[in-house]
Amino acid sequence: MAEIGATLSLLVKCITYEAQGVRSFDLRSPLGAELPPFGPGAHIDLHLADRMIRSYSLVNSADERHRYVVGVALDPSSRGGSRYMFEKVSVGDILTASPPSNDFPLVEEASHTVLIAGGIGITPIWCMIQRLESLGRSWELHYATRTRDLCAFRSELEATERRKNGRVKFVFDREPGAQMLNLSQLSAGIADDAHVYCCGPKPMLAAFEEATKARQPETVHCEYFAAAATPAADGGFTVELVRTGSSHFIAPGKTILDTLIDAGLDVSYACMNGVCGTCETAVIEGKPDHRDSLLSESERASGRTMMICCSGSLTSRLVLDI
Ligand code: FES
Repeated sequence: MAEIGATLSLLVKCITYEAQGVRSFDLRSPLGAELPPFGPGAHIDLHLADRMIRSYSLVNSADERHRYVVGVALDPSSRGGSRYMFEKVSVGDILTASPPSNDFPLVEEASHTVLIAGGIGITPIWCMIQRLESLGRSWELHYATRTRDLCAFRSELEATERRKNGRVKFVFDREPGAQMLNLSQLSAGIADDAHVYCCGPKPMLAAFEEATKARQPETVHCEYFAAAATPAADGGFTVELVRTGSSHFIAPGKTILDTLIDAGLDVSYACMNGVCGTCETAVIEGKPDHRDSLLSESERASGRTMMICCSGSLTSRLVLDI
């Protein structure tokens, strides 16, 4: 394994068409060495051009140590990450990546696991299924895409379904005669001690959170791969950095992170969407306007930390521990 500081160098071994607008990238050590282990639900951050870092869930079995596979959907509204992966990355390229980390871990000992995926949200879910299968656990999948052409990893899922009939339920909700996935109805039929997971687009996650709000919180797991709220970019406030000793006016149209990067400061970030936690920063004074998908209500109310990639300020001055 080749390492650069805390990062890995990964060879693009293979790029595979998985569905319309979806590719998988098979990434290996250039030296053929083992890669750091990961668990189901883990992601890696790929360091792309111009300080662009994007998080991608690992798709392949967590038992594999010789490769990481990520699934990428071409998002026309993306800020360049998926377009870069589709248009610039070729077999034989070397990419820089962070080691795996996991904000969406699988509870392996659950009596039953219900997995719900929408679109490219299938990526961590398919990894979880492979783990549950290897453990011989009870599970079921509900996977929604607009049409079957958009259904990634379909042949693998169909093969799994053939082995264990009734576990994989596809919903192609824009095909003639199709119905939408009814999450309220689905949730009502899930046993109290089962664990339920959802990864998909924002409307699906919002419906999932609503449908599962009566369940014990520890049995409910969801992962946002896009921002749940619009970033705070109204600007008009000042950020003071106590360790750096500098002060920055946040102009309208800019986030705090944009402004600090423009000022040449070396700040950590990855998703730029409030979903990964890389940019979490301690707040010393002032009241953040939270727009992330990570902090709980009580964490937000405490005002002790904020995600500077997407959150703004409700006060004219914020003092941050940077
Ligand atoms: S960079 Fe991911 S939460 Fe801010």
